[in-house]
Amino acid sequence: MKPKTLVTRWLPADVLARLKTVSDVTMWPEADQPATRDFLYREIAQVDAVLSMLTDQMDETLMSHGDHLRIIANMAVGYDNIDLQAAKQRAIHVTTTPDVLNETTADLTFALLLAVARKIPESSEFLRSGQWQSWSPFLLAGQDVYGATLGLIGMGRIGEGVARRARGFGMKLIYHNRQRKTETEVDLGVSYETLDGVLQLSDYVVVLTPLTQETHHLIGERELQLMKKTAILINVSRGPVVDEVALYRALHQGQLYGAGLDVFEQEPIALSHPLLTLPNVVALPHIGSASIATRRKMAQLAADNIYEVLIGNSPLTPIV
Ligand code: DGY
Repeated sequence: MKPKTLVTRWLPADVLARLKTVSDVTMWPEADQPATRDFLYREIAQVDAVLSMLTDQMDETLMSHGDHLRIIANMAVGYDNIDLQAAKQRAIHVTTTPDVLNETTADLTFALLLAVARKIPESSEFLRSGQWQSWSPFLLAGQDVYGATLGLIGMGRIGEGVARRARGFGMKLIYHNRQRKTETEVDLGVSYETLDGVLQLSDYVVVLTPLTQETHHLIGERELQLMKKTAILINVSRGPVVDEVALYRALHQGQLYGAGLDVFEQEPIALSHPLLTLPNVVALPHIGSASIATRRKMAQLAADNIYEVLIGNSPLTPIV
């Protein structure tokens, strides 16, 4: 009998073709709605592998229903939706999709930075709503990107991609990371700073650190107060790395110039959320890696990880 795989969101057939040669695949049919918890409980009991999304909580309770489970292949570089300890105890491999999304996510990070700095969504809305009366000296004037200081919090491959783009904009580059990256410092001309140093010196602070117990609310009231009043905060990692209540307060009180957010503490963010009332916030629905080519590569890498494990090889990009 072929091993079984559960895919928790609709994915294109060609991405799953190779996997289907070694496994029977059950797929949640919706592209835009996550699999229900009931569906997951029912199906996980039958399968050897799960191709999961960041919206699926792969916790201990769910895993305890998966007696035959050998691998959870998350279609994301983040894995804060997976209880790694529980997976380890059950000898379940956990894989992610690193690297294939670096450049696409760095593109979006830069787009978000530019959008906030130069008020692009606000300006577009201004025009479309018929408010444009005349060219005017300071109409929708924003902040310069060229020549400004960019501070990266988290310096992995996506951070390196952002740094390369920033060099093209003549930006001064500083970063903070758990471990110093001396080679990257030389290659990309970035200087290491303490976290407080990055916050105090940067015109743009880009948060790229993964969500862990240590990084939960890493950017809170104290940290926001350290930032320049003219500075812009960009978060493209995970929502809970930034304390949204503190962020709203800082923006509302003019302690910060603006924020670009691709991720939120609760996703989707409620339309009534105070952050969405602020004109100096550009908010996106977690689309950092969302180019068609990159999402296909992520799905393929997740499927390939399962394929390898099911034919008895090691996974390609394991976490556990
Ligand atoms: C990830 O991969 O973790 C992103 O948040 C989605 O691309």
